[in-house]
Amino acid sequence: MINFKDEIAELIAQHVEGLELSEIQDIIEVPQDPKMGDYAFPCFRLAKIMRKAPPLIAKGIAEGIDDSSLFEKVEQVNAYVNMFISKEAFIKDTLEEVLGRGEDFGKTDIGENKTVIVEYSSPNIAKPFHIGHIRSTVIGNSLYKIFDALGYNVIRINHLGDYGTQFGKMICAYRHWGNKEDVIREPIKTLLSYYTRFHVEVEEHPELDDEARETFAKLERGEKEEVELWQWFRDESLKEFNRVYDMLGISFDSYNGESFYSDKMPRFVRELEEKGLLKESQGAHVVDLEEYGLGTALITKSDGSTLYITRDIAAAVYRKETYDFYKNIYVVASQQNLHFQQWFKIVELLGYEWAKDCVHVPFGLVSLEEGTMSTRHGRVVFLEDVLNKAVEKTKEIIREKNAGADEADIDETAKTVGIGAVIFQELSNNRIKDYVFKWDKVLNFDGETGPYVQYTHARCASVLRRAGEETVAKAAALKDVDYKYLCSESAYELIKLLYKFPDVVVDAGHRYEPSIVTRHIVDMAQGFNRFYHDEHILTDDEQEKTAKVALVIAAKNAIRNGLALLGMKAPEKM
Ligand code: ARG
Repeated sequence: MINFKDEIAELIAQHVEGLELSEIQDIIEVPQDPKMGDYAFPCFRLAKIMRKAPPLIAKGIAEGIDDSSLFEKVEQVNAYVNMFISKEAFIKDTLEEVLGRGEDFGKTDIGENKTVIVEYSSPNIAKPFHIGHIRSTVIGNSLYKIFDALGYNVIRINHLGDYGTQFGKMICAYRHWGNKEDVIREPIKTLLSYYTRFHVEVEEHPELDDEARETFAKLERGEKEEVELWQWFRDESLKEFNRVYDMLGISFDSYNGESFYSDKMPRFVRELEEKGLLKESQGAHVVDLEEYGLGTALITKSDGSTLYITRDIAAAVYRKETYDFYKNIYVVASQQNLHFQQWFKIVELLGYEWAKDCVHVPFGLVSLEEGTMSTRHGRVVFLEDVLNKAVEKTKEIIREKNAGADEADIDETAKTVGIGAVIFQELSNNRIKDYVFKWDKVLNFDGETGPYVQYTHARCASVLRRAGEETVAKAAALKDVDYKYLCSESAYELIKLLYKFPDVVVDAGHRYEPSIVTRHIVDMAQGFNRFYHDEHILTDDEQEKTAKVALVIAAKNAIRNGLALLGMKAPEKM
């Protein structure tokens, strides 16, 4: 695509003094109000350099660049040069790009030959996979898709919480009160009930704690029976997690969780010692981070066992050595801010220059209308139940909207739309904000929601079906398309949104913020619907129809590519 900013900067450069090309680029703006042009150049900064009043400078520039074929018109308004891009040239260029690149429209290669690790989801095994986990899971998956579209080689890691003293307790509990069939039938709920029972029983039988500690020690030493039980708990939990990942269409390249690093820690604990960073404190080992305002980090306990933070440091070292990452990204709740600040600091103090490439991407809390969730109080909302409920509710809505639709079709569509609605909602909010999960908002077909956008995509598809294959083929090839038919306000505004899409993806990647993509998809969908309502698309005039159909194909393509970046499907019918 033409980079208009580049072209404009070069034109302006011929008429000003004392500014580098890149400086001119930085000054060029995109006005909020389209009446002020597609691009504007304020001349305030030049006043000093050129020793002239800004309006005079603007006038000179405007007259100088006016006859370029790039512009429809150029105006000087006070200190501004307002530039209106030649619509037809712009439309032609944009549609050629969107249609020519198809599924690749929006992709770039800025990440070529660089590896990015995205760690996300990372639930704890034998614990509920609940609504709170949706954020990391869905934001992480979208960041993976975005970095993939930017040309990075992306490694997806699920850092399972599968290690720690609680597994000593779990194994003990299972031995005392467990039943194999129950675990197989309903692994997580059953294992959780054993764990809860352990905490009740230990009040009366404190010796259980010693037993649990001893059991964990055996697990750490790799004794057969303990390892087998632990492995079994892990496998059963993963089966349950995978059911949800399948529903969401999410997968991982690695499930190396905390346990994977249990034998990879002594090395850097030694390094910490050699660098004089490790202090003894009542038999435990800590790193004092007070001077950085980060408190003290506990590295090993007095019984020698390691902690969550120790395993994170070991994991980062392993990842650097295995993948040589350019960025190592952690999509984890903002509640863990201190944890990440602490260990990033420790890695830096160890002298690893790649500490700066570790990125914590935090996000806020999700709560339910009924109040916050609490595992301890049994107010757990399982993610799987939420997804199933979304599908069920969507079925009802579809049945209501299209009485008589085929049940098999309804099933398929309800899955796409119901689960899509939850994903979209999740990615609509600026990730750092806390938000309240509300069914009415998630499943509203008219609001700025997943169903609305998917419905818009299906509407594009429906227009194309009605246009007929011949016209669609001609339009898709942009054969004899006369772009003058796409100069109306609603068509042109839509085309501008399509043009912006690739930049939006880059921006979302830089800021680790999928909601930037979500926002833009809503804008494109609204832009399309405005065009759809304002214009008669399938007119009798074959040439006019072909041009407009080309825009429908382009809008459909861009919306689909956008949804793909969120991990959502784009239905042809709804
Ligand atoms: N398992 C942890 C939890 O559920 C999240 C792990 C986050 N990742 C990490 N590398 N620390 O809270």
